[in-house]
Amino acid sequence: MQFRNFKMVSYVGYGRGAFNQLDEIIAPHRKAGAPMIFLLDHFFDNGHALASRVPLRGNDKVIFADVTYEPKTTQVDKLAAELKAEFGTVSGVIGIGGGSVMDLAKAVSLMLNNPGSSADYQGWDLVKFPGVYKVGVPTLSGTGAEVSRTTVLTGPTRKLGMNSDFTPYDQILLDPELTKDAPANQRFYTGMDCYIHCIESLTGTYLNEFSKSYGDKALDLCREVFLSGKEWTNEDDDKLMMASYAGGMSIAYSQVGVAHAVSYGLSYLLGTKHGIGNCIVMNHIGEYYPEGVTAFKQMVAQNNIHIPEGICAGLSDEQFETMMNVSLGMKPLWENALGKNWEAIMTREKLRALYEKL
Ligand SMILES: NC(=O)c1ccc[n+]([C@@H]2O[C@H](COP(=O)([O-])OP(=O)(O)OC[C@H]3O[C@@H](n4cnc5c(N)ncnc54)[C@H](O)[C@@H]3O)[C@@H](O)[C@H]2O)c1
Ligand SMILES: [Fe+2]
Repeated sequence: MQFRNFKMVSYVGYGRGAFNQLDEIIAPHRKAGAPMIFLLDHFFDNGHALASRVPLRGNDKVIFADVTYEPKTTQVDKLAAELKAEFGTVSGVIGIGGGSVMDLAKAVSLMLNNPGSSADYQGWDLVKFPGVYKVGVPTLSGTGAEVSRTTVLTGPTRKLGMNSDFTPYDQILLDPELTKDAPANQRFYTGMDCYIHCIESLTGTYLNEFSKSYGDKALDLCREVFLSGKEWTNEDDDKLMMASYAGGMSIAYSQVGVAHAVSYGLSYLLGTKHGIGNCIVMNHIGEYYPEGVTAFKQMVAQNNIHIPEGICAGLSDEQFETMMNVSLGMKPLWENALGKNWEAIMTREKLRALYEKL
Protein backbone atom coordinates (compact mmCIF):
# COMPACT_ATOMS: atom_id res chain seq x y z
CA MET A 1 0.00 0.00 0.00
CA GLN A 2 1.30 3.43 -0.90
CA PHE A 3 -0.26 5.17 2.10
CA ARG A 4 -0.27 3.84 5.62
CA ASN A 5 -3.58 2.88 7.12
CA PHE A 6 -2.80 2.38 10.75
CA LYS A 7 -4.83 1.24 13.70
CA MET A 8 -4.81 3.65 16.61
CA VAL A 9 -5.68 3.49 20.30
CA SER A 10 -9.50 3.27 20.57
CA TYR A 11 -10.15 5.37 23.67
CA VAL A 12 -8.07 8.11 25.30
CA GLY A 13 -8.63 9.63 28.73
CA TYR A 14 -6.53 12.57 29.89
CA GLY A 15 -6.36 14.67 33.02
CA ARG A 16 -4.81 15.16 36.41
CA GLY A 17 -6.54 12.62 38.69
CA ALA A 18 -8.04 10.68 35.74
CA PHE A 19 -6.73 7.49 37.39
CA ASN A 20 -9.74 7.71 39.74
CA GLN A 21 -11.97 6.94 36.74
CA LEU A 22 -10.26 3.66 35.91
CA ASP A 23 -12.86 1.54 37.75
CA GLU A 24 -15.71 3.12 35.79
CA ILE A 25 -13.87 2.91 32.48
CA ILE A 26 -13.09 -0.80 32.69
CA ALA A 27 -16.43 -1.86 34.24
CA PRO A 28 -18.23 -2.56 30.92
CA HIS A 29 -15.34 -4.85 29.90
CA ARG A 30 -15.59 -7.17 32.89
CA LYS A 31 -16.72 -10.70 32.04
CA ALA A 32 -18.30 -12.88 34.72
CA GLY A 33 -15.68 -14.83 36.67
CA ALA A 34 -12.79 -13.53 34.57
CA PRO A 35 -10.49 -11.12 36.43
CA MET A 36 -8.84 -7.89 35.40
CA ILE A 37 -5.06 -8.23 35.70
CA PHE A 38 -3.22 -5.11 36.85
CA LEU A 39 0.41 -5.23 35.78
CA LEU A 40 2.14 -2.65 37.95
CA ASP A 41 5.67 -1.33 37.59
CA HIS A 42 7.71 -2.67 40.52
CA PHE A 43 8.44 0.95 41.47
CA PHE A 44 4.93 0.92 43.02
CA ASP A 45 5.55 -2.21 45.13
CA ASN A 46 6.20 -2.09 48.87
CA GLY A 47 3.29 0.05 49.92
CA HIS A 48 3.32 2.85 47.35
CA ALA A 49 0.03 4.79 47.53
CA LEU A 50 -0.79 4.09 43.86
CA ALA A 51 -1.02 0.33 44.49
CA SER A 52 -3.78 0.89 47.05
CA ARG A 53 -5.76 2.94 44.50
CA VAL A 54 -5.99 0.06 42.00
CA PRO A 55 -9.74 -0.68 41.63
CA LEU A 56 -9.71 -4.38 42.53
CA ARG A 57 -12.95 -6.36 42.28
CA GLY A 58 -13.79 -10.07 42.55
CA ASN A 59 -10.82 -12.24 41.63
CA ASP A 60 -8.80 -9.39 40.10
CA LYS A 61 -5.06 -9.68 40.53
CA VAL A 62 -2.15 -7.28 40.89
CA ILE A 63 1.20 -8.43 39.49
CA PHE A 64 4.30 -6.34 40.08
CA ALA A 65 6.48 -6.41 36.98
CA ASP A 66 10.22 -6.37 37.46
CA VAL A 67 11.53 -3.94 34.85
CA THR A 68 15.16 -3.90 35.97
CA TYR A 69 15.83 -5.16 32.46
CA GLU A 70 13.72 -4.19 29.46
CA PRO A 71 10.98 -6.74 28.57
CA LYS A 72 12.01 -10.12 27.20
CA THR A 73 9.96 -12.62 25.20
CA THR A 74 10.61 -15.20 27.98
CA GLN A 75 9.12 -12.83 30.58
CA VAL A 76 6.02 -12.26 28.42
CA ASP A 77 5.54 -15.98 27.76
CA LYS A 78 5.89 -16.85 31.45
CA LEU A 79 3.34 -14.23 32.54
CA ALA A 80 0.84 -15.29 29.88
CA ALA A 81 1.26 -19.00 30.71
CA GLU A 82 0.79 -18.38 34.43
CA LEU A 83 -2.37 -16.37 33.85
CA LYS A 84 -3.81 -19.04 31.52
CA ALA A 85 -3.02 -21.75 34.08
CA GLU A 86 -4.55 -19.81 36.97
CA PHE A 87 -7.65 -18.30 35.31
CA GLY A 88 -8.13 -19.89 31.88
CA THR A 89 -9.37 -16.58 30.59
CA VAL A 90 -9.15 -13.00 31.88
CA SER A 91 -11.26 -9.91 31.21
CA GLY A 92 -8.32 -7.66 30.52
CA VAL A 93 -4.75 -6.59 31.21
CA ILE A 94 -4.05 -3.13 32.59
CA GLY A 95 -0.45 -1.96 32.41
CA ILE A 96 0.53 0.79 34.87
CA GLY A 97 4.12 1.94 34.61
CA GLY A 98 6.88 3.24 32.36
CA GLY A 99 7.50 2.28 28.74
CA SER A 100 8.68 -1.18 29.76
CA VAL A 101 5.38 -1.97 31.47
CA MET A 102 3.47 -0.41 28.56
CA ASP A 103 5.16 -2.91 26.25
CA LEU A 104 4.87 -5.84 28.64
CA ALA A 105 1.11 -5.40 29.13
CA LYS A 106 0.48 -5.14 25.38
CA ALA A 107 2.51 -8.28 24.74
CA VAL A 108 0.89 -10.31 27.55
CA SER A 109 -2.56 -9.33 26.28
CA LEU A 110 -1.63 -10.59 22.80
CA MET A 111 -0.07 -13.82 24.09
CA LEU A 112 -3.21 -14.71 26.04
CA ASN A 113 -4.95 -15.23 22.69
CA ASN A 114 -2.13 -16.31 20.36
CA PRO A 115 -0.44 -19.72 20.34
CA GLY A 116 3.29 -20.36 20.74
CA SER A 117 5.92 -17.90 21.96
CA SER A 118 5.96 -14.11 21.63
CA ALA A 119 9.32 -14.61 19.86
CA ASP A 120 7.33 -16.11 16.93
CA TYR A 121 5.62 -12.75 16.45
CA GLN A 122 8.62 -10.40 16.55
CA GLY A 123 8.36 -8.63 13.24
CA TRP A 124 5.66 -6.97 11.16
CA ASP A 125 2.04 -8.17 11.05
CA LEU A 126 2.71 -11.70 12.30
CA VAL A 127 0.23 -11.63 15.20
CA LYS A 128 -2.80 -13.76 14.26
CA PHE A 129 -5.56 -12.90 16.78
CA PRO A 130 -6.56 -9.83 18.79
CA GLY A 131 -5.38 -9.93 22.38
CA VAL A 132 -7.59 -9.56 25.44
CA TYR A 133 -8.88 -6.07 26.33
CA LYS A 134 -5.87 -3.94 27.23
CA VAL A 135 -5.42 -0.62 28.96
CA GLY A 136 -2.24 1.46 29.27
CA VAL A 137 -1.66 3.89 32.12
CA PRO A 138 1.79 5.48 31.75
CA THR A 139 3.73 6.65 34.79
CA LEU A 140 6.69 8.05 32.85
CA SER A 141 6.40 10.34 29.81
CA GLY A 142 8.39 10.11 26.63
CA THR A 143 8.50 6.73 24.93
CA GLY A 144 5.20 7.05 23.08
CA ALA A 145 4.68 3.33 23.82
CA GLU A 146 1.18 4.26 25.00
CA VAL A 147 0.17 5.05 21.41
CA SER A 148 2.41 2.89 19.27
CA ARG A 149 1.52 -0.26 17.29
CA THR A 150 4.54 -2.13 18.61
CA THR A 151 5.92 -3.66 21.77
CA VAL A 152 9.70 -3.87 21.89
CA LEU A 153 10.93 -7.24 23.18
CA THR A 154 14.33 -8.82 23.51
CA GLY A 155 14.03 -12.34 22.14
CA PRO A 156 16.41 -15.27 21.68
CA THR A 157 17.88 -13.88 18.46
CA ARG A 158 16.91 -10.22 18.25
CA LYS A 159 15.42 -7.17 19.86
CA LEU A 160 12.33 -6.42 17.83
CA GLY A 161 8.72 -5.46 18.37
CA MET A 162 5.49 -7.31 17.78
CA ASN A 163 4.28 -4.76 15.22
CA SER A 164 0.65 -5.31 14.32
CA ASP A 165 -2.82 -3.82 14.12
CA PHE A 166 -3.69 -5.87 17.20
CA THR A 167 -0.92 -4.28 19.28
CA PRO A 168 -2.27 -0.77 20.11
CA TYR A 169 -4.13 -0.35 23.38
CA ASP A 170 -7.94 -0.42 23.48
CA GLN A 171 -7.80 2.34 26.06
CA ILE A 172 -5.16 4.63 27.48
CA LEU A 173 -5.53 6.79 30.55
CA LEU A 174 -3.12 9.70 30.69
CA ASP A 175 -2.86 11.09 34.22
CA PRO A 176 0.18 13.36 34.60
CA GLU A 177 -0.10 13.17 38.39
CA LEU A 178 1.29 9.63 38.17
CA THR A 179 4.65 10.87 36.88
CA LYS A 180 5.40 13.23 39.74
CA ASP A 181 7.67 10.88 41.73
CA ALA A 182 9.99 10.19 38.83
CA PRO A 183 13.60 11.09 39.69
CA ALA A 184 14.98 13.97 37.60
CA ASN A 185 17.48 11.78 35.74
CA GLN A 186 14.91 9.13 34.77
CA ARG A 187 12.39 11.79 33.79
CA PHE A 188 15.04 13.38 31.59
CA TYR A 189 16.19 10.16 29.88
CA THR A 190 12.61 9.09 29.10
CA GLY A 191 11.63 12.66 28.14
CA MET A 192 14.59 12.80 25.76
CA ASP A 193 13.26 9.69 24.02
CA CYS A 194 10.36 11.93 22.97
CA TYR A 195 12.62 14.87 22.07
CA ILE A 196 14.79 12.55 19.96
CA HIS A 197 11.71 11.03 18.26
CA CYS A 198 10.79 14.58 17.21
CA ILE A 199 14.25 15.48 15.89
CA GLU A 200 14.52 12.19 13.99
CA SER A 201 11.02 12.43 12.57
CA LEU A 202 11.14 16.14 11.66
CA THR A 203 14.50 15.93 9.86
CA GLY A 204 13.78 12.56 8.24
CA THR A 205 13.15 11.81 4.58
CA TYR A 206 9.84 10.08 5.44
CA LEU A 207 8.33 13.30 6.80
CA ASN A 208 4.88 14.39 5.73
CA GLU A 209 2.42 16.92 7.14
CA PHE A 210 0.77 14.31 9.38
CA SER A 211 4.06 13.57 11.15
CA LYS A 212 5.19 17.17 11.08
CA SER A 213 2.06 18.54 12.75
CA TYR A 214 2.41 16.20 15.71
CA GLY A 215 6.22 16.41 15.76
CA ASP A 216 6.27 20.23 15.81
CA LYS A 217 3.88 20.32 18.76
CA ALA A 218 5.77 17.67 20.70
CA LEU A 219 9.07 19.44 20.06
CA ASP A 220 7.67 22.78 21.31
CA LEU A 221 6.45 21.10 24.49
CA CYS A 222 9.83 19.40 25.08
CA ARG A 223 11.63 22.70 24.64
CA GLU A 224 9.20 24.44 27.01
CA VAL A 225 9.78 21.96 29.81
CA PHE A 226 13.49 21.24 29.42
CA LEU A 227 14.75 24.71 28.44
CA SER A 228 12.64 26.89 30.74
CA GLY A 229 15.42 27.27 33.30
CA LYS A 230 12.79 27.07 36.05
CA GLU A 231 11.99 24.52 38.76
CA TRP A 232 9.99 21.50 37.51
CA THR A 233 6.23 21.98 38.08
CA ASN A 234 3.00 19.98 37.71
CA GLU A 235 2.38 21.89 34.50
CA ASP A 236 5.63 20.49 33.11
CA ASP A 237 4.41 16.95 33.86
CA ASP A 238 1.13 17.79 32.04
CA LYS A 239 3.05 19.06 29.02
CA LEU A 240 5.54 16.21 28.86
CA MET A 241 2.74 13.63 28.91
CA MET A 242 1.11 15.29 25.89
CA ALA A 243 4.53 15.61 24.20
CA SER A 244 4.98 11.85 24.53
CA TYR A 245 1.56 11.24 22.97
CA ALA A 246 2.16 13.65 20.09
CA GLY A 247 5.73 12.40 19.55
CA GLY A 248 4.39 8.84 19.30
CA MET A 249 1.78 9.98 16.76
CA SER A 250 4.50 11.72 14.76
CA ILE A 251 6.57 8.55 14.34
CA ALA A 252 3.44 6.50 13.60
CA TYR A 253 3.60 7.91 10.08
CA SER A 254 7.36 8.45 9.80
CA GLN A 255 10.29 6.71 11.49
CA VAL A 256 13.04 7.28 13.98
CA GLY A 257 16.64 7.76 12.85
CA VAL A 258 20.35 7.68 13.67
CA ALA A 259 20.15 7.91 17.48
CA HIS A 260 17.73 4.98 17.68
CA ALA A 261 19.56 2.86 15.10
CA VAL A 262 22.85 3.23 16.98
CA SER A 263 21.33 2.89 20.42
CA TYR A 264 19.65 -0.41 19.46
CA GLY A 265 23.16 -1.84 19.00
CA LEU A 266 24.19 -0.68 22.49
CA SER A 267 21.05 -2.10 23.99
CA TYR A 268 21.48 -5.48 22.29
CA LEU A 269 25.12 -5.95 23.27
CA LEU A 270 25.43 -4.06 26.55
CA GLY A 271 21.82 -3.98 27.78
CA THR A 272 21.89 -0.16 27.78
CA LYS A 273 18.36 1.09 28.45
CA HIS A 274 16.45 2.84 25.70
CA GLY A 275 16.25 6.38 27.11
CA ILE A 276 19.80 6.69 28.39
CA GLY A 277 21.17 4.86 25.33
CA ASN A 278 19.57 7.40 23.02
CA CYS A 279 21.07 10.22 25.10
CA ILE A 280 24.55 8.65 24.97
CA VAL A 281 24.32 8.54 21.17
CA MET A 282 22.67 11.95 20.77
CA ASN A 283 25.67 13.54 22.49
CA HIS A 284 27.86 12.57 19.51
CA ILE A 285 25.75 12.93 16.36
CA GLY A 286 25.82 16.67 15.72
CA GLU A 287 26.95 15.83 12.18
CA TYR A 288 23.48 14.43 11.41
CA TYR A 289 21.29 16.64 13.59
CA PRO A 290 23.21 19.91 14.12
CA GLU A 291 20.43 22.01 15.67
CA GLY A 292 18.82 19.14 17.54
CA VAL A 293 22.10 18.13 19.17
CA THR A 294 23.02 21.70 20.15
CA ALA A 295 19.67 22.11 21.94
CA PHE A 296 20.06 18.63 23.48
CA LYS A 297 23.37 19.67 25.01
CA GLN A 298 21.76 22.82 26.41
CA MET A 299 19.02 20.70 27.98
CA VAL A 300 21.59 18.37 29.55
CA ALA A 301 23.48 21.32 31.02
CA GLN A 302 20.42 23.24 32.23
CA ASN A 303 18.89 20.23 33.92
CA ASN A 304 22.18 19.10 35.45
CA ILE A 305 22.02 15.64 33.93
CA HIS A 306 24.88 13.19 33.75
CA ILE A 307 25.29 11.45 30.37
CA PRO A 308 27.71 8.50 30.57
CA GLU A 309 30.80 8.51 28.33
CA GLY A 310 33.27 5.85 27.29
CA ILE A 311 30.82 2.93 27.46
CA CYS A 312 32.41 1.25 24.41
CA ALA A 313 35.97 1.52 25.71
CA GLY A 314 37.69 -1.87 25.72
CA LEU A 315 35.15 -3.72 23.55
CA SER A 316 36.53 -6.36 21.17
CA ASP A 317 36.32 -6.22 17.36
CA GLU A 318 33.75 -8.98 17.55
CA GLN A 319 31.59 -6.95 19.92
CA PHE A 320 31.77 -3.89 17.66
CA GLU A 321 30.75 -6.12 14.75
CA THR A 322 27.72 -7.37 16.68
CA MET A 323 26.56 -3.83 17.47
CA MET A 324 27.09 -2.73 13.87
CA ASN A 325 25.14 -5.70 12.53
CA VAL A 326 22.20 -4.95 14.80
CA SER A 327 22.31 -1.28 13.94
CA LEU A 328 22.70 -1.63 10.17
CA GLY A 329 19.85 -4.15 10.20
CA MET A 330 17.48 -1.29 11.08
CA LYS A 331 17.16 -0.33 7.42
CA PRO A 332 14.03 1.88 7.57
CA LEU A 333 15.62 3.99 10.32
CA TRP A 334 18.73 4.66 8.25
CA GLU A 335 16.73 5.28 5.12
CA ASN A 336 14.55 7.78 6.97
CA ALA A 337 17.62 9.53 8.38
CA LEU A 338 19.93 9.56 5.37
CA GLY A 339 17.81 8.76 2.33
CA LYS A 340 17.74 5.85 -0.12
CA ASN A 341 21.49 6.10 -0.60
CA TRP A 342 22.16 5.61 3.12
CA GLU A 343 24.50 2.63 2.75
CA ALA A 344 27.00 4.77 0.86
CA ILE A 345 26.86 7.40 3.64
CA MET A 346 26.85 5.25 6.78
CA THR A 347 29.68 2.86 5.92
CA ARG A 348 30.87 0.25 8.46
CA GLU A 349 34.03 2.32 9.02
CA LYS A 350 31.98 5.40 9.82
CA LEU A 351 29.68 3.54 12.16
CA ARG A 352 32.60 1.85 13.93
CA ALA A 353 34.20 5.27 14.49
CA LEU A 354 30.93 6.54 15.96
CA TYR A 355 30.59 3.56 18.35
CA GLU A 356 34.19 4.10 19.46
CA LYS A 357 33.34 7.66 20.52
CA LEU A 358 30.40 6.66 22.77
N1 LIG B 1 6.56 0.33 22.12
C1 LIG B 1 7.14 1.43 21.77
O1 LIG B 1 6.72 2.07 20.84
C2 LIG B 1 8.33 1.93 22.52
C3 LIG B 1 8.91 3.15 22.17
C4 LIG B 1 10.01 3.59 22.89
C5 LIG B 1 10.48 2.84 23.95
N2 LIG B 1 9.90 1.65 24.28
C6 LIG B 1 10.36 0.84 25.40
O2 LIG B 1 10.15 1.57 26.60
C7 LIG B 1 11.11 1.15 27.56
C8 LIG B 1 11.71 2.36 28.24
O3 LIG B 1 10.69 2.99 28.95
P1 LIG B 1 10.92 4.16 30.00
O4 LIG B 1 11.99 5.05 29.52
O5 LIG B 1 9.59 4.72 30.29
O6 LIG B 1 11.55 3.43 31.25
P2 LIG B 1 11.16 2.06 32.00
O7 LIG B 1 9.74 1.72 31.82
O8 LIG B 1 12.18 1.04 31.63
O9 LIG B 1 11.37 2.49 33.53
C9 LIG B 1 12.60 3.01 33.99
C10 LIG B 1 12.62 3.00 35.51
O10 LIG B 1 11.69 3.95 36.05
C11 LIG B 1 10.84 3.31 37.01
N3 LIG B 1 9.57 4.06 37.05
C12 LIG B 1 8.45 3.93 36.29
N4 LIG B 1 7.52 4.85 36.62
C13 LIG B 1 8.07 5.61 37.61
C14 LIG B 1 7.59 6.73 38.37
N5 LIG B 1 6.40 7.29 38.16
N6 LIG B 1 8.42 7.23 39.30
C15 LIG B 1 9.65 6.71 39.49
N7 LIG B 1 10.15 5.65 38.82
C16 LIG B 1 9.36 5.11 37.88
C17 LIG B 1 10.79 1.88 36.60
O11 LIG B 1 10.50 1.03 37.67
C18 LIG B 1 12.22 1.66 36.08
O12 LIG B 1 13.07 1.36 37.16
C19 LIG B 1 12.10 0.28 26.83
O13 LIG B 1 11.84 -1.07 27.13
C20 LIG B 1 11.83 0.57 25.37
O14 LIG B 1 12.15 -0.53 24.52
C21 LIG B 1 8.83 1.22 23.58
FE1 LIG C 1 12.45 5.75 21.37
